[in-house]
Amino acid sequence: MKRTLLIFALCVGLCGTVDAKSKKTPISENLFGIFFEDLNYAADGGLYGELIQNRSFEYSPSDVDKGRNPHNNWHYFTAWSMERDNSICTISLEGFDPVHPNNPHYLVFDALSVGPDGVGLSNDGYDGIPLKGGEKYYFTTYFNVLSGNDVPVDVMLVDGKMKDVLAKGELRLDGKGWKKYELDLTPSVASDSASLRIMFRKPSKIAIDMVSLFPSNTFRGHRNGLRADIAETIAALKPSFVRFPGGCLAHGDGLANIYNWKNTIGPVESRKSDKNIWNYHQSFGLGYFEYLQFCEDIGAKPIPVVASGVSCQNSSRTPGTGQEAIAMEDMPAYIQDVLDLIEYCNGPATSEWGSRRAEAGHPEPFNLEFIGIGNEDNITPEFEERFKMIVNAVKAKHPEIIIIGTSGPFANGFDFDKGWESARENEVGLVDEHYYCNPDWFLQNLQRYDSYSRKGPKVYLGEYASWGNTLFNAISEAAYMTSLERNGDVVEFASYAPLLARIGNTQWNPDMIYFDNKGVYPTVNYYVQKLFSENRGSTNIDGVFTGDCAPTSSCVVDGATGDIVLKMVNAQETPQNVNVNLKGLKGNWRSATLTELKGDRNDMNTRETPDKVKPESRTFEASSRFDYELPPMSLTVIRIPN
Ligand code: AHR
Repeated sequence: MKRTLLIFALCVGLCGTVDAKSKKTPISENLFGIFFEDLNYAADGGLYGELIQNRSFEYSPSDVDKGRNPHNNWHYFTAWSMERDNSICTISLEGFDPVHPNNPHYLVFDALSVGPDGVGLSNDGYDGIPLKGGEKYYFTTYFNVLSGNDVPVDVMLVDGKMKDVLAKGELRLDGKGWKKYELDLTPSVASDSASLRIMFRKPSKIAIDMVSLFPSNTFRGHRNGLRADIAETIAALKPSFVRFPGGCLAHGDGLANIYNWKNTIGPVESRKSDKNIWNYHQSFGLGYFEYLQFCEDIGAKPIPVVASGVSCQNSSRTPGTGQEAIAMEDMPAYIQDVLDLIEYCNGPATSEWGSRRAEAGHPEPFNLEFIGIGNEDNITPEFEERFKMIVNAVKAKHPEIIIIGTSGPFANGFDFDKGWESARENEVGLVDEHYYCNPDWFLQNLQRYDSYSRKGPKVYLGEYASWGNTLFNAISEAAYMTSLERNGDVVEFASYAPLLARIGNTQWNPDMIYFDNKGVYPTVNYYVQKLFSENRGSTNIDGVFTGDCAPTSSCVVDGATGDIVLKMVNAQETPQNVNVNLKGLKGNWRSATLTELKGDRNDMNTRETPDKVKPESRTFEASSRFDYELPPMSLTVIRIPN
């Protein structure tokens, strides 16, 4: 008898035929989400639908740290040119009596003599304005007629190469004082690279500000909305949450640059634009209202991040040592801003900040549940003191809000330990971890969360990525994500970073989704994220797999449907067998679907080869026990319906 037991035990140990019923762990329903930061032109020139660059003449040489990332000739008129054939004119930058005090500069155009085609200005957007033939575009601007009356103005969309006029409308300007003018333009044909022209046809002196051109076809049709193709690509990830607005952007390049959410709401002409820590300009046209609306549109929980009373430690070109702390006498006002943010999201439409949300068209609350305090900060005494103050204030006024602390920029080390310590001391709900590592690190650290305490704060893996966009990078992330599922009882959220990058304007690589004016190019890493998000489970079942790929495989059950989902990752360049034992689980074995992402180790999806590696699905006949040969360098997802 003893001998039989020993043989059975050995068999379990070696062959791993553990009853599938035996180990079940709940998985966070919010596990897979996204992190959006205005980095790599992710907002202006990216997700934000505005087609005019520098619409309010607020670009400034001080936006740019020339030592780091020179935008040569970056100035108040960047992206603008004069159109003055056979005419005489001047332009100047002025600031007396602007459209709004938060938007202090505007352009004054003095048309002294006007040629047959008029005289004026053009804007090329971001590397040219992409237009779709037959679609409507909304042009809006503010003019103030300083001299002249009944001034005819042609507003045109002109093809960049051919200089053909694709759409044209006329305005007549009159009267002193700022007035908003609007016009719809429908280009006859598409263009990859058009420009907007505003041509005055009579001598006059006109002040101009907030020149805007928006597609009518924005995501969900919102005015001041989002570029549809990028937003759709993000929505297809089905993220359960969106962390925003940063990243380093949230805690900013010095105290004056800490992201101030109040500057990002209200009419766009009243938003106070600012330099971006990533060396360009942020208009805040995509501001807090638009972020919250996007979250609602795609069914994702908003997770705003506010600075913990300190700026980014990389501020002022002093990497690692540039942290600045808000003076203690200014902390009450800063803390009030954080509380006001919660009121803006959730307060009744009759409250001070809830009424601002209602004015923007959303009287109902946005149902904020979480707030991040701090972003991978150096955990200095200054940080700790301010963190505690903010945490205490939020807890006192909003005990319903779950606070997410921070733990430095690396997977371990001083800030990591101190961040966790401070989170535990302050009894916050979660701790945000960040790490960017090589693919082998991910493959070697699959056990990281197995030993995490199940008491105290949970984990939000807020930023992670392996260094690259090859299939091997994506596969290493997939392998790691199976370990996140296995630890879905302690890892509450996870988001790859960064999300978006405009080709030609990147400050950080790799990224998940690249785009240009013509299209959107999801990486292989994107497809891994999508497959995990689409195939979530609410319970992880251990002991299902044996074979080499067992540590990089997961079996989850989707509580809503009862479907069993297997994810199996082969990070090697040779096929690998995996044995699957689902005994004890019920499934409609014959109607399973198998989806595969595979290729060569260095394959990448690029603008030139966007479809190199994409998931492919087919039907699959499973059974309660089967062997499967995983192709080299692959992620295989098998979904077995209930
Ligand atoms: O995701 C890019 C940057 O990486 C984030 O801004 C920052 O939090 C991290 O260092």
